Amino acid sequence: MRTAIVSAMHEELAAVLALMPDETRQPAAGRDFRVGHLHGHDAVAVLSRIGKVAAATTATVLIERFEVDRILFTGVAGGLAPGVERGHVVLADGFLQHDLDASPIFPKYEVPLYGTSRFDTDRALTDRVAQSVARALPGTRVHRGLVISGDRFVATSGESRSLQAALPEALAVEMEGAAIAQVCRDYGVPFAAVRTVSDRADDEAHGDFVQFIRDVASRHSAAIVEAFLGDEAS
Ligand code: ADE
Repeated sequence: MRTAIVSAMHEELAAVLALMPDETRQPAAGRDFRVGHLHGHDAVAVLSRIGKVAAATTATVLIERFEVDRILFTGVAGGLAPGVERGHVVLADGFLQHDLDASPIFPKYEVPLYGTSRFDTDRALTDRVAQSVARALPGTRVHRGLVISGDRFVATSGESRSLQAALPEALAVEMEGAAIAQVCRDYGVPFAAVRTVSDRADDEAHGDFVQFIRDVASRHSAAIVEAFLGDEAS
């Protein structure tokens, strides 16, 4: 069983890489795939880079070339729904692309020719990640539900309000998950995504974003991954 651990930014993955004692770098598609072991498990860690296309390329190479059996994305997101605050954790049940609109040919948000706007994550894998989060970060507030993705860093209160009005069930916004979910659906590969809320996707969103990832989110990611793989027989 080979597990892929994916993040968008270096700061999100740094602490996870520190858990891989024997990683070797295998370059492909302009990315450094780190192949090795994490808690005795066969693992590949990689930066997807930012945005849906970069994430889709990364997921495709992970599946086609590195033959991973499942993908776990860990990183940060902007909170959208009321009560989804900085430092909370969001687990995705499913994803939607908030910037996809082929109307009037197809309904708004629907991915043309898939007949759906929503791509679910793997239920069993997500349940297991939820247990790992509870163990790794006791006392941390966890939300589970829809996460939306788009090729925009949402950094104005106006845009955040319109997204909330258009998609009231969306817990959080980020820039990669829906693309990976779609690729994983195409290949039948289980996918789970866990994100620490770094900002409220409002006028203050960019403030100390990178510092927060370094100080909080990267430690969250490492603790969750460690709990997730640590409890599985290798
Ligand atoms: N990832 C973390 N915060 C975000 C935001 N406000 N918009 C898009 N992606 C994000």
